[in-house]
Amino acid sequence: MNTKKLYIETMGCAMNNRDSDHLIAELREKEGYVLTDQAQEADLILINTCSVREKPERKLFSEIGQFNAIKKPHAKIGVCGCTASHLGEEIIKKAPSVSFVLGARNISKITQVIHQDKAVEVDTNFDDSTYMFSKNTNPDIKALLNISIGCDKKCTYCIVPHTRGKEISIPTQMLLDEAQKLAQNGVKELLLLGQNVNHYGTRFSNPHKPTNFTQLLRELSQIEGIERIRFTSPHPLHMDDEFLEEFASNPKICKSIHIPLQSGSTKVLREMKRGYTQEWYLDRVQKLKSLVPHVGISTDIIVAFPTETEEDFEETMKVLNLVQFDTLYSFIYSPRPHTEAQNLHNPISKEEASKRLATLQARHKEILAQKAKQEIGSIHSVLIENHRDQSPYIWSEGRSDTNRLIKIPDQVLPLGSIVSIKVTHHEGGSLSGELLS
Ligand code: 5AD
Ligand code: SF4
Repeated sequence: MNTKKLYIETMGCAMNNRDSDHLIAELREKEGYVLTDQAQEADLILINTCSVREKPERKLFSEIGQFNAIKKPHAKIGVCGCTASHLGEEIIKKAPSVSFVLGARNISKITQVIHQDKAVEVDTNFDDSTYMFSKNTNPDIKALLNISIGCDKKCTYCIVPHTRGKEISIPTQMLLDEAQKLAQNGVKELLLLGQNVNHYGTRFSNPHKPTNFTQLLRELSQIEGIERIRFTSPHPLHMDDEFLEEFASNPKICKSIHIPLQSGSTKVLREMKRGYTQEWYLDRVQKLKSLVPHVGISTDIIVAFPTETEEDFEETMKVLNLVQFDTLYSFIYSPRPHTEAQNLHNPISKEEASKRLATLQARHKEILAQKAKQEIGSIHSVLIENHRDQSPYIWSEGRSDTNRLIKIPDQVLPLGSIVSIKVTHHEGGSLSGELLS
């Protein structure tokens, strides 16, 4: 019997990666598909799209054309994810080679739509927060775990509330059961996912005991075998003291955190409807650093929001210098449909926007070089994830709890073990060190 083959391309965020895991597991378990990395031999080609900025969205139609040119004659092409949500049937009209469109909020319907012709399932009120997705049989050391779907915020630049619908939390017991099973299969590290993780517990589909994100962290960290917990993304507004104290004191919570800044200017933050000020952001960071001095902080920054003046941009530079982020994801503002900011007059030229981005990134590079020097001699707990062999060099590698990739030369350490490493070298942003324990 010929096995059906699935090719999947995933763009965008960790949430989309998780959705792709679910698509793969559903199709494997219920429809007998196996994964291939060759689109030309696939019976089903899925493109799991992102729409957060304009560029990847524009790429979609050229990709569909490329897949259509190389695919087997009977093979189907399906467009899933955030662009599917907001373009819907327009995709099939523009690209008739597409067999179905499955929105980011409708992933659990994959086994239906593959049997329908030209299905368009993009209802953002659809609630699959209690749906039991098939399990991915690929046991790994790390696993992604969705704790909520959708987003209730109204950031004026962001299309996600439109593509992923309102926020609904996944029941705690379902998460605990899932984490338990993952631990039994050898998973050591969980990455909890949600558009706004620390808003967990605000709305469930069915009656649920009152809870919040801090409580969820406490409960998940009781599970034997789960050694590390990470999460993304929390919102600065919901970082109350109770949360920061749990973050600091719970040994299973990795000491790295993504705190999306977006802008350092209180005025721009107001226009973005972020709900916090520069002072609030800096206060939370200061509190966090006082509780966990070695904490790793990453952030997202948007430059050239339409109302951003030169002075506003300087405020962003000020926060960059004060916080000294360990990782920076930075973007030029991209107007998106279905957002409040799309109609704002934008006086900032492309050249000026690129200049601001370059200034921000260049300064951050300097900060990183400085920080890397300070890492020499520091001691990290590292979860061993890989062995590499590029003869004559062999090494083990893994991430510190502060989320730095660290190599341990000349060692083959057990995968999944957590070891103490002293950093001895840094080269081009990567760290290496020696085993202490
Ligand atoms: N333009 C540029 N960047 C954006 N992001 C979200 N929407 C936009 C937009 N319209 C960025 C934000 C967010 C990250 C995932 O993408 O920084 O945190
Ligand atoms: Fe993820 Fe947002 Fe892109 Fe959707 S639009 S895939 S939620 S980053």
